[in-house]
Amino acid sequence: MSKTYRKYGTEELMELIDVFNVSETGAAQIRAILAVEPEAPDAGVFFRYYNNRSKVVEFERQFAAHVGARHVLAVNSGTSALIAALVAAGVGPGDEVIIPAYTFFASASAVVVAKAIPVIADINESLMIDPDSIKKLITPRTKAILPVHMLGFPCEMDRICEIAAKHNLVVIEDTAQACGATYKGKYLGTWGDFGCVSLDAYKVIGSGEGGILTCKDDFMFMRAQSYHDTAACWRPDRYGKERVEGELFCGENYRMSELSAAVALAQLRRLDWINARTRYAYHKLQSLITLPKGVKWVTPNDPDGMCGYNLAMLFDTQDMAAAAQTAGLVGGNAANATKGLRDWHLAWNWGHITEQKSATSEGCPFKCPFAKDVPKYTRDSWPVSRGIMMRAGTIATTPDMTDEAIARKAETISTGLEKCLK
Ligand SMILES: Cc1ncc(COP(=O)(O)O)c(C=O)c1O
Repeated sequence: MSKTYRKYGTEELMELIDVFNVSETGAAQIRAILAVEPEAPDAGVFFRYYNNRSKVVEFERQFAAHVGARHVLAVNSGTSALIAALVAAGVGPGDEVIIPAYTFFASASAVVVAKAIPVIADINESLMIDPDSIKKLITPRTKAILPVHMLGFPCEMDRICEIAAKHNLVVIEDTAQACGATYKGKYLGTWGDFGCVSLDAYKVIGSGEGGILTCKDDFMFMRAQSYHDTAACWRPDRYGKERVEGELFCGENYRMSELSAAVALAQLRRLDWINARTRYAYHKLQSLITLPKGVKWVTPNDPDGMCGYNLAMLFDTQDMAAAAQTAGLVGGNAANATKGLRDWHLAWNWGHITEQKSATSEGCPFKCPFAKDVPKYTRDSWPVSRGIMMRAGTIATTPDMTDEAIARKAETISTGLEKCLK
């Protein structure tokens, strides 16, 4: 590439906003962010380094201040954040990482990509990883625990961090689905050594694609930077000698783009509002719904700190859950499972793991000589988690729900459940 970096005019960026057909308020926010200096002739360099107006750097600064994180690294996806965190923590061949049986497959995939073995723990009736199950799975090869805050519900981070401290394990929080949620007053992602947020299109806030890594430790953060930008542009002197042993090694390109950061900055301004509104809708809806006999609410570990975009309930049986799902009253897996649909949020559907699929013909990391006693999972390996998830139902809320919409939804669900479970 030539030494003159291509610059983009503000007008070209405005055209992009039209192309993406974002909403009026969204467009206004993006315009405001891009025009950080309205009098500037262009929107700057589309590269986060060598750029004193970088939106990525500004996003990292604002996110760090928002959640109280020591270090923040913006990356190009939640999966990248997880992989970079695992590599930064020194996870590699022969290591085991404990993850829950209920999470999106990316949590397992990241462990395998980092050349380690995912060891899969059960969840409990909070739908989150069960700390007692974690304890039973710790071996001398365990290097990290990777709790996942599914549905915006917090895991029991105090108990998990206690277990980790006792066994000298790293904690990597998968906060993909829980941006801005707290547990006991502390932001998720800041309890463990790392937090990994996703900013994809289906998350609390999004930037098209994107991710955020938060980290407590200076050395591990340096390694995360190194892995996320193998071009080494992140270093003060890109071509200089290694400053500390372990600083330089082969990595990838997980850098967040300036455009994503512009959107992420606009979204960050709405984060508190989004979570406050969905939390309100959650509690209001829950107070108005009458559950029939044989159904109970899932109690999140911290109902005041969770995101609130989903209510969850547990039916006494899978048939009851399937009936409510078929009637369109709740979401969940019971009805789909009877049709043979394999949701990738459930470990027993991860053929990649149960069949130990590998990107290499040598079968890495499952057949790596460093890996010992690799668990041989089957679809029947998690009867406890399966028993819970096959009885679970969910109801979605949105931040813009009015009181009238909430009341209508409550009425539909209460009468619908009563009728279909008779
Ligand atoms: C729990 C969980 N972890 C990780 C990811 C991966 O995030 P991304 O899509 O940004 O790579 C997701 C995305 O759906 C997720 O739900």
